[in-house]
Amino acid sequence: MEMNQPAPPNALDRNEHRNIGAPLDRVDGRLKVMGAAPYAYEVKEGAKPAYGFIVESTIAKGRVAAIDTAAAERAPGVLMVMTHRNAPRQAPFSLEGEDRFARPKPYLNDPQVQYYGEPVAFVVAETFEQARAAAQMVRISYAQQKGEYELQPNLGKAEKPKGGAGREPDSDVGDFEPAFTAAPVRIDATYTTPFHIHAQMEPHASLAWWEGDRVIIHCSSQLLESAQKCVSNTLQIPNENVRIVSRYIGGGFGGKLPIYADVLLSAMAARELKRPVKTALTRQQMFHVTTHRSDTIQRLRLGATRDGVLTAIGHESWSHSARFDDFYESAAKQTRSLYAGANRMTRHRSVRLDLPVSDSARAPGEAVGLLALECAMDELAHQLRMDPIELRLRNEPTEDPEKHIPYSSRQLVACMQEGARRFGWNKRSAQPGQLREGRWLVGTGMCAATRGNLLRAAKCKVTLQGDGMLVARMSMTDIGTGSYTVFTQIAAEMLGLPVEKVSMQLGDSDFPETAGSGGSFGAASAGSALYDACENLRTKLAQSAGIDPAQARFGGGMVSGGGKTAHLDKLAGSSGVEAQGEIKPGEMEKKFSQQAYGAFFAEVGVDLDSGEIRLRRMLGVFAAGRILNAKTARSQAIGGMIWGVGSALHEEAVVDPRHGFFVNHDIAEYHVPVHADIPAIDAVFLPEVDDKTNPLKIKGVGELGISGAGAAVANAVFNATGVRIRDYPLTLDKVL
Ligand code: MOS
Repeated sequence: MEMNQPAPPNALDRNEHRNIGAPLDRVDGRLKVMGAAPYAYEVKEGAKPAYGFIVESTIAKGRVAAIDTAAAERAPGVLMVMTHRNAPRQAPFSLEGEDRFARPKPYLNDPQVQYYGEPVAFVVAETFEQARAAAQMVRISYAQQKGEYELQPNLGKAEKPKGGAGREPDSDVGDFEPAFTAAPVRIDATYTTPFHIHAQMEPHASLAWWEGDRVIIHCSSQLLESAQKCVSNTLQIPNENVRIVSRYIGGGFGGKLPIYADVLLSAMAARELKRPVKTALTRQQMFHVTTHRSDTIQRLRLGATRDGVLTAIGHESWSHSARFDDFYESAAKQTRSLYAGANRMTRHRSVRLDLPVSDSARAPGEAVGLLALECAMDELAHQLRMDPIELRLRNEPTEDPEKHIPYSSRQLVACMQEGARRFGWNKRSAQPGQLREGRWLVGTGMCAATRGNLLRAAKCKVTLQGDGMLVARMSMTDIGTGSYTVFTQIAAEMLGLPVEKVSMQLGDSDFPETAGSGGSFGAASAGSALYDACENLRTKLAQSAGIDPAQARFGGGMVSGGGKTAHLDKLAGSSGVEAQGEIKPGEMEKKFSQQAYGAFFAEVGVDLDSGEIRLRRMLGVFAAGRILNAKTARSQAIGGMIWGVGSALHEEAVVDPRHGFFVNHDIAEYHVPVHADIPAIDAVFLPEVDDKTNPLKIKGVGELGISGAGAAVANAVFNATGVRIRDYPLTLDKVL
C-alpha cells in the first residue's frame, strides 16, 4: 500500500487481543542475557576463520611513501599482509547516488591518506593475537602534508553544501534581517557543540566468506540493503552475489548506517585466502575508522515583541565534512517547524576538513540543533521576564510555518502542560541563583522536544505454517531498540495468535527488502509492511475458510465470521499459506508536516565552590503517535534522555589541532554518563493516534528522547547559577 490517504480504522485500533501497547518483555531478551544471541564477531557458522587486524595511518594527510611488510609477513601465523601495493583494485570513491551508504568505498586502493586512522594495511593471521602482533611490525614512512582540522579558524572556507531531497541547506520565509533589526526584544547568541562519538556497546565487526562467486558477510549494520549495495559497488560484483547478515546488533545510533574497512577488507581477504576472515575494530579504532557527529557552531537570532510573540527567527549552523565527503549536520532543520513567526531564515554551511568522516549520529540535526534553539528560547524568556512555557505557548503555530501545511498531529502544548504538572514547575523560582541547599545551588529548566517523522519503502513476507507458527521475514534490523518485539506484537495482534506462535526473522539481506533501522523510521516502515502482509494473509485465510474477509475475526488460533469457524493450522495445511506486504511513502508526507513532540524538565545542583554540576531529577513527556510497546518505547526515551544529559554535561571528543586525531579515543576519556550521573529519570507518553503517518498510526520514538534533552539541563544550570554557558558540554570550569 502507498500512504496517500489517512489510514482507515483497522485491527490495530480495535486491539482485541491487547497486544498493541502492551509492555511485552523483549522476545530476544532471554537470548541476549544468556549470551545466546550471537553478534557478528560471535557467529560460529562456516569454516574456521582467519583473523584480520587493521593498521591505521598515523598521519592525517599525505601519502604512504614506503611500506615494509617483510617482518610482519614472517611473523608467526601470518597468512597475508594487504597494502595498497597488493590489494584488489576497487571502484573509486564517488559522491554520486542518492543513497550515500551504498556508494563505493574503497580501502587500500591507493597510497593517499585522507584522515588520521585511515586503514593503510591489513594483516590476516591464524589468531587475533598473531594478527595484532604482526600489525605492529609493519613499517611505514609517510610523505606528510599540512592539514586543516578545526572548524572555527576555517569558517571563511565554508561552503553551501549540496542538499538533496528533504535536505535543503537554506530556507527563507518573509524577510528576516529587517524584521530582526526592528524587533523590540532580541537575542543574538552563538552556541557550540563538540564532536560526538556513537560509542556503541558492540564494536564494528565482520565475518566474511565466499561460496563460489557469492560473499556472505555477518557484520553489524543498520541498513542491510545499503551495505549490500556498497559491497557490490566497491568490489564491482553483482548485488545478488552479496549477502549481508546482522541478526543481533549492539547499538547503531547512526554509526552503523555505513559499513567500514572491517567489512570490505574481510571480504577481499576471504576471497584471496579462500577461507572465512573475521575482523573487529578495537574500541580505539572505532573513533577514527568509523564516523562521528561533527562539532557545530550555531548562531541563533530571535526577535520578539514585548509580549513574547516571535517576529524573526534566524538559525545558522556550521559543521564539518571530511575533505572528500558531502555530509552536513542539519542542526537548523527543526527550527523550520517548531515555532510560529512571520520572518524566518535558516542556513547550513559546511567546512571541509582533513578529519575522519562525519555522518549521522542519533537524531542528526535535532540532537544538537535543539541544544542551541531551546537555549535561545530560554534566554529570550529570561529577557522578557516570562515563564519559558508561556513563551512557547505564545508561539504555538496553527500550521507548519515554512511549508504552510497542517501538522499530522502535534501535542507540544499538552506535553509541556502535563510535564509542568508532574514536575511541579509552578514551585520554580524564575529568578536565577535563588535556591540553595547546603553547598548546592539548585535550579530547574525545561525545553521542547521534536523529531521529524519518516516513512520508507519496505516489503515483508509472512507464512502461516502447518504447525500454527506465523513466520515473518524482512531485511529489517533490530539495533537494540526492540524491533523483534514490537513486530511480534503486531503479527500476534493481526492473526490473534499468542506471541510464542510468532517467529520474527530479521537481519538478512536475502529477506524482503526494507530500509532497515535509521532515522527512527524502522518501526513505521518495516512494521507497516508487516501489517500489510498480515492483512493480506488474513484475507487469504478467511477466503479459504469461506468467510467474508471484512467480517472475519481472528483469535484463539481460529478465524470466524458469518457463523463459520476454521482452525488456522488446518487452513495452513502442510505447505503453509504465504502472503506478501509492502508500504510506500506517498502524498501524506507532502500534505502534512510530521513530527513527534515532547517536553523535558530537569533539576540540577551546582556546587558553590567547585562548580560541579549534578543532575537531580529529570522528566520527559512525549506524544509520538500510537505506542506499540510501553516498555520498549519508554526505554528508548530514557536512553535518549541519558544521552541528552551526556551531551549537556559530559560528551566531547577533542581534536589535536596539530595532528588531526581525536585525543580522547577511548571510553575512559570520552566521557559518557555512568550510573552515578543519572538519578531518577522518568518518561511518559501521552495518548495519540496519528492516521496520517502510516497504517500503524505510529511515529518514530527512537531519537525523540535525545532531541533537546540537554537544553533542559543547560537551562536548569542557568536557573541555578545565573551563568549562561553556550559552549557544550557544560563543565565545571565554565561555571566558575
Ligand atoms: Mo539514527 S542517526 O540511525 O540513530
